[in-house]
Amino acid sequence: MVPSSVDVVGRADEVDIVIEVDGEPVPGVRGQTLAGVLLAAGRDSWRTTSRSRRPRGVFCGIGVCFDCVVTVNGERDVRACQRRACHGDTVTLQADELPGAGS
Ligand code: FES
Repeated sequence: MVPSSVDVVGRADEVDIVIEVDGEPVPGVRGQTLAGVLLAAGRDSWRTTSRSRRPRGVFCGIGVCFDCVVTVNGERDVRACQRRACHGDTVTLQADELPGAGS
């Protein structure tokens, strides 16, 4: 995200929401998706593949690939690129191993 101080649009975004990601508070801006909050916080991956434990974050960004799934407020497999972040959301990163999917 372009910092508001150099944004030619002149937006005045303030940190007005905080979500919890694996127990740590992460600030965001109202209207951002969970993926947007995570990316703005410097995270480019937040889950690992089941088979080979490769890092995944946003791939398509439009709700098609499911690479960005997280658990939100206890609900599994939420696409972070499609879910608007709400103040107080509790996000848990997913790293599930499929049965019999060893390396
Ligand atoms: S990045 Fe593809 S579904 Fe979210």
